[in-house]
Parts: sequence; structure tokens; C-alpha cells
Amino acid sequence: MKLFDVYPLFDVNIVQGKGCHVWDDKGQEYLDLYGGHAVISIGHSHPHYVEMICKQVEKLGFYSNSVINKLQQEVADRLGKMCGYDDYQLFLINSGAEANENALKLASFYNGRTRVISFSKAFHGRTSLAVEVTNNPKITAPINANNHVTFLPLNDVEAAEKELAKGDVCAVIIEGIQGVGGIQLPTTEFMQAIRRACDETNTVLILDEIQSGYGRSGKFFAHQYNEIRPDIISMAKGIGNGFPMGGILISPKFTPVYGQLGTTFGGNHLACAAAIAVLDVMKAENLVENAAKTGEYLIDQLKTFKEIKEVRGRGLMIGLEFEAPIKELRNKLLFEEKVFTGVSGTNVIRLLPPLCLSKEEANMFLERLQHALK
Ligand SMILES: Cc1ncc(COP(=O)(O)O)c(C=O)c1O
Repeated sequence: MKLFDVYPLFDVNIVQGKGCHVWDDKGQEYLDLYGGHAVISIGHSHPHYVEMICKQVEKLGFYSNSVINKLQQEVADRLGKMCGYDDYQLFLINSGAEANENALKLASFYNGRTRVISFSKAFHGRTSLAVEVTNNPKITAPINANNHVTFLPLNDVEAAEKELAKGDVCAVIIEGIQGVGGIQLPTTEFMQAIRRACDETNTVLILDEIQSGYGRSGKFFAHQYNEIRPDIISMAKGIGNGFPMGGILISPKFTPVYGQLGTTFGGNHLACAAAIAVLDVMKAENLVENAAKTGEYLIDQLKTFKEIKEVRGRGLMIGLEFEAPIKELRNKLLFEEKVFTGVSGTNVIRLLPPLCLSKEEANMFLERLQHALK
């Protein structure tokens, strides 16, 4: 049987990882400044993570959400304390798109409305509602185009206030920092204006922290730079360090109703063991602080490169915009300098390394980038 060929692949077979490094099947080492698309939070194959998952699968890998699973409560308790949302409620699922599906569904159950505001360049996933609120017609199938969504320019306070004042908007969904859109930061003025307008119109504010959350920005959630509290926060990627997992944090103003949301696999024992291990390591190794510190160093250094038009980002979520397309540079970085990086559109290189990136590894990257730019 052939694989359904939807991914343009690099001719590299990665078989092993450790910290911020991965190895291919020929034993070649690579520096990972991509983290498998912002997924690797605590580093590849962290020994505590490996041990927790192995021990859990030996005991019990899965049982359904029809019985008590104390590991879910442990995730909720630890996460609540670490992220500053102890008073919120946690619902666990399996991916980012599924997190946003549930967030939007919950918002609609809450206020009975169906219109959503999203923003230009937004990416929220590829399933039905998630792709509909994603600003990319190429990946929106006719069956997904149901006219629920108004796309507005990011950081245009007036446009957002005007649209929300109509009083018929179910939810505003916005990324803490736009990832796929090329590392675009919402301003604090904009975030606070949306928060205010949502409050005035009983609109649900959903913060998609799937890429920008879980410490990546140097705070637990990127929106914490803007000093707002959303109604729902969606998470995935770093939550399980590669174990497929997603979650939504739900404000106390939402009352759970039996059967309203549900999932077979979400919050299973193995996923929870992975999530607890991630939180253990994040705390023990101060990874949020490390993302802030190493990220700041990296951004400062990158700003001295005259070849780079603009450096954007926070913590270890960094976009390097070039005047010209970066395809060749990215290939050079991978095949000659042995560094994995990400991309946004044609001109932006995206850096999304594991949060344990050290200053030495950051310097290693800077040297290799300099070499590739020669
Ligand atoms: C901001 C954001 N939201 C949602 C998603 C979708 O997550 P998933 O691929 O786990 O469905 C992504 C994935 O890149 C993302 O970056």
C-alpha cells in the first residue's frame, strides 16, 4: 500500500534524538532548531520522560473516560499551578485542531451564536471549524466553507471593535503569537481592546496557544505578555513533548454538561504520564525561564545579521524575515550545516527549538547560519 502523498519530504530519515540534537539512519547528527514543528518542549528522549512513559505502559496504557483517571487530575493540578490558571477547568483531547474544535463548540453552546472573528494569516488547524477559522483558502475544502467567519486585519483595533459591536459574534479566536503566519505578534493594545469588546458583548475570547504556549514564548502563555485572561485557551504541541495530546483551559464561567464534549483517547493514562513528565522537567530545569533567556540572547544576536531584514518573536519562537525567498538557505542549513529549521511562506525562517536550548547550542546555530549565509 502506498502512503497518501501529501507531505513534501526532505530526504532525511531521523531515527534518534537527544536534547536539541537528532540523528539520521546513517549516524549523521543535526542540531534541531525546529523541534519537529514546535512540539519538542523538554528535549528529545529526556530520561525522566522515557521512564515515566515506560513505567505507565507497563502498568496500564489506556482505559476509557467512563472511569476515574487520577492522572488527569494530577495534570490539571500541576498545570493549573504552573500556568497561573488554577481556577480554570481542563478538558483533554489529542491534537491542536481538536482543541480548537472543542473551544469553538463550547463557545457556541455558551452564547448560542455562530459567527466567529479570526485574523489575517491565522492558522488554527485542518479539521472542520479549525480550518474554517484558518486564513488559507487552499486548505479549506468547499465542505468547510460555511460562512461562519469574518477575517479582520491583525492589530486593527477599530475594525475589531466595530465588528464586535454588532453583538452577534460567538467567539474571537486569536493566536498568542502567529506561527504559520510568520511570527506576527498581537499588540497589547489590541489584545486588551478585544478582551474589553468581548466582555461588553458576551463574546467568547479563545486564545490559541498551541504553538506559542507551554513556555515557548518565555512566559507560560504568550498572551501573558499582554496581561489579559481569555475565556478559553487551546494547547497542544509541547504538552506531551511528541506524545499526541491537546487540551483546553476553560474559564469558571462555563458550566460543564454531561456528554456535551467527549473523546475516546483524550486524556488517556499514557498521555497523562507524558504530560506529567513534561511538567516535572519544565519545573526542575526552569525551561520557561531558559526559553526567555536563551531566546533573548538569540534574538539580540540575530538582529546584528545584516542579511536578515527583520527578526520577530519572543523566547524560542523566532521568525527571520529575508528580502529574498529562503528555500535555498533552508536547504543549505539542513544539508550542509546540519541544522533543522522551520519556514513560513516564502521569505521567513522559523526557529522553534526545544525549550532546553543552551547558550552554547544557540552559538552553534549562529555560527552555522553565518556560514550558510556566506
Ligand atoms: C497555532 C496553531 N493552532 C493549531 C494548530 C493545529 O494543531 P494540530 O496539527 O495538532 O492539529 C497548529 C499547528 O501547527 C498551530 O500552529
